[in-house]
Amino acid sequence: MSKRTVSDLIWLVNPKDLQVQKSWLEKDIKKIGEKQILNLVKLAVKQSKLSYSPYSKYPVGVALLAKSDKIYLGNNVEKVSYSDTDHAEEAAVTGAVVSQEIKKSGRKFIKALAVAQKLGISPCGRCRQIIGEHCDNAVIINCDLKGKIYSITSLQNIFPDAFTPTLMGF
Ligand code: THU
Ligand code: ZN
Repeated sequence: MSKRTVSDLIWLVNPKDLQVQKSWLEKDIKKIGEKQILNLVKLAVKQSKLSYSPYSKYPVGVALLAKSDKIYLGNNVEKVSYSDTDHAEEAAVTGAVVSQEIKKSGRKFIKALAVAQKLGISPCGRCRQIIGEHCDNAVIINCDLKGKIYSITSLQNIFPDAFTPTLMGF
């Protein structure tokens, strides 16, 4: 392999990466609308109260907006074996599949998710993969348990270079 200089490598970085994500987000946020985004935040906070998390004492609530405009809720459901715990995002995605969202809109049925947890941070790596099973991109709204929004981001921004069903030809 020929030796590459740093500037050769920099050419390989897409200079539009961040900009592309920003304009995608702005367009989608406008499409979904402020009212719906605040509604999702409110529902995610409410759902976090149903969390079963006696071990971590770290409740998480999710409100998932599907392309059908139906909203699916999820919360973490812990197990004493810890690793068998259902994450809130996972529960919402499974709920949507169980309620026939794939039949309605196909595999890529996710539009947006609001996630409520104490730290107002983004979903974990495993949940990013689970969300990516059902969309090419999605608006992710991260808020705390009082509904304060910490960030609005996109799946592609928090999960770049993902291993996706599309890449595998599905
Ligand atoms: N948790 C979620 O529900 N979603 C995430 O993406 C991060 C972690 C839950 C799992 C566990 O019940 C608690 O938060 C602490 O890790
Ligand atoms: Zn997770």
